Amino acid sequence: MTKGARPIDALSRDEAAAELAELAAEITRLDLAYYRDDAPEVTDAEYDARRARNAAIEARFPDLVRPDSPSRRLGAAPAAGFAKYRHRQPMLSLGNVFQEEEFGEFCARVRRFLGLPETASLAFVGEPKIDGLSISLTYIDGVLTHGATRGDGIEGEDVSANLRTLASIPARLAGEAPALIEIRGEVFMTKGDFLALNEEQEALGRKPFANPRNAAAGSLRQLDPTITAGRKLSFFAYALGEASASVADTHARYLDRLRGWGFAVNPLSRRLAGEGEVLAFQAEMAARRAGLDYDIDGVVYKIDDLAWQRRLGFAGRDPRWAIAWKFPAERAETRLLDIRLQVGRTGALTPVALLQPVNVGGVLVTRASLHNEDEIARKDVRIGDTVIVERAGDVIPQIVAAIAERRPADATPFLFPDHCPVCGSLALRPPDEVVRRCTGGLICPAQAVERLVHFCSRAAFDIEGMGERTVAAFYADGLIRGPADIFRLGPHEAEIAAREGWGKVSARKLIAAIEARRRIPLARFIYALGIRRVGETIAKLLARHYGGITHWRAEMIAAQVVGSEARSALGNILGIGPAIAEELVDFFAEARNRAILDELVGLLVIEDAEPAESGSAIAGKLVVFTGSLASMTRAEAKARAEALGARVTDSVSRQTDYVVLGAEAGSKARRAAELGVKTLSEVEWRALAGLDP
Ligand code: IVH
Repeated sequence: MTKGARPIDALSRDEAAAELAELAAEITRLDLAYYRDDAPEVTDAEYDARRARNAAIEARFPDLVRPDSPSRRLGAAPAAGFAKYRHRQPMLSLGNVFQEEEFGEFCARVRRFLGLPETASLAFVGEPKIDGLSISLTYIDGVLTHGATRGDGIEGEDVSANLRTLASIPARLAGEAPALIEIRGEVFMTKGDFLALNEEQEALGRKPFANPRNAAAGSLRQLDPTITAGRKLSFFAYALGEASASVADTHARYLDRLRGWGFAVNPLSRRLAGEGEVLAFQAEMAARRAGLDYDIDGVVYKIDDLAWQRRLGFAGRDPRWAIAWKFPAERAETRLLDIRLQVGRTGALTPVALLQPVNVGGVLVTRASLHNEDEIARKDVRIGDTVIVERAGDVIPQIVAAIAERRPADATPFLFPDHCPVCGSLALRPPDEVVRRCTGGLICPAQAVERLVHFCSRAAFDIEGMGERTVAAFYADGLIRGPADIFRLGPHEAEIAAREGWGKVSARKLIAAIEARRRIPLARFIYALGIRRVGETIAKLLARHYGGITHWRAEMIAAQVVGSEARSALGNILGIGPAIAEELVDFFAEARNRAILDELVGLLVIEDAEPAESGSAIAGKLVVFTGSLASMTRAEAKARAEALGARVTDSVSRQTDYVVLGAEAGSKARRAAELGVKTLSEVEWRALAGLDP
């Protein structure tokens, strides 16, 4: 790290200039590692800390801002300048398959969910999957009012002004259209435009873009729309968000309407009558891939019938009605130079392979994950081996195998240590787990400091001045041991001021920065806890769902019981899968975690989140289905009620709001009558839930 810890007030002009030069060089190097090489050298928090430091020094010495300052640089900078835009319908992602068999399983799930016979034929639309940026366009009375990036799927960035500069996005829809419609599609750059742009960048002495996707993203996320206008961006429309009226009955006809309104729709998109045609289309696209003027990484298959799409809805983050069938991963051979161990926030010891840099499908790969010790043993990977590296889509590069015939005589097997390389504590591996973890807990500086840095990082508590250096130093001297201690630093102000490199002014500033964060929105608070798999997006989903800290805490504790209502409610939140639910349950199972949480609750004001929006009459209601329904399977009924914000349980209690009676409803109907719980016929329920258009 650069001399990041010197308080800015204490810097002389010369020192500031020198540090800015150093930061510019260092951030450029980190940008290249991240964006070009796909091999980040530092954590996001550390990276952000450097940019923040750069900005803070510039704020104090505005005339020292360098022409090559990271704060001026285009493309890689996080776009702070765009307004947030909340999508009317969430923009979620897509599940993946790689093989015919998996595609068959996808079709079987669709049939089961809809209650169709195994022999029923499914019609799809196949669309090449372009690797660009998905965006959402809102048209009111046929006029483009907003265009936004996907962001976290709930909220994106309003890039309307930039999107208006694209020729393939009509400012006004041609012909008749619903009063309100959200149209979605992909912004991308063709290979030809990408090469031309990079030539121009280089001629101007600017940094070239790593790939067409980055170039498209960098061009779209420009605060100055005239820059976007000068870049050649393309757009294909392919999906529908909210619409105030029906637009078509099939996806293929929706694509026709899009063309009629003036959008570009990928001309390769095609309706496919059954699975046989899907297989042929997949093969055809794989064969045509190299000749296309844009990068594709697979084909998206969507159920053609829009009524079925609506019925299928979403499971977690992915639609049940669409799937991406990816092309096989790209591979390359290279030499394994060394194996290093990383100790994460949770103490997991992760082996990382350091590789002779190699180009895998257009990306320079220098590191690959080796997952865990079993993987190393199973693949018999040794240092010095020639290995096969694979990149599948966006995932971290993997080592597929070592090539035994090319093994040099001095290749050395890697001995997985049973002690933490950072704190020396025993590193244990529970009998039924694959991950070895440092048992040092918070005494392990790797874990404690990483957790605390994360806690203070920009997307979490955002405490200015609590970067890695300061946290590590305070931790080493026992000033802070856990997150709550940060909010008890006030009385230590003089002690901090007396530390080397500090002073009264900077100590006072730090304490003020901490005090300013005693009030925090629930989503940030949840994110700050550093629970595995709970990133910003998931934290926001949780905050919106549970609303307040007290409710969230109570529900997470209730969710400890497998099969409880709280547990199934957690697993059913749109966007939260079983793995995340498990991490949350595990976090709350640990008494020390609950103690830290409670300590913080006592020291802070945690603001309630806005509740999840749902205009539905059944939102927030507790519903029980019983008997067999005529219009859908039980799985579908449950999924749809939950999608509208209802909670669905199996047993009738006084808390139940509605019991929906299908044919041959038995004891639950009687129980509802005994308790005086309202019962609904299937028809009444469909009407109440607004399922009939
Ligand atoms: S449909 C819920 N169609 O793939 C439906 N996505 O992995 C979601 N993508 O974020 C999107 N081509 O950026 C759809 N023809 C296509 C697509 C496509 C590319 C991207 C899109 C999305 C990602 C999901």
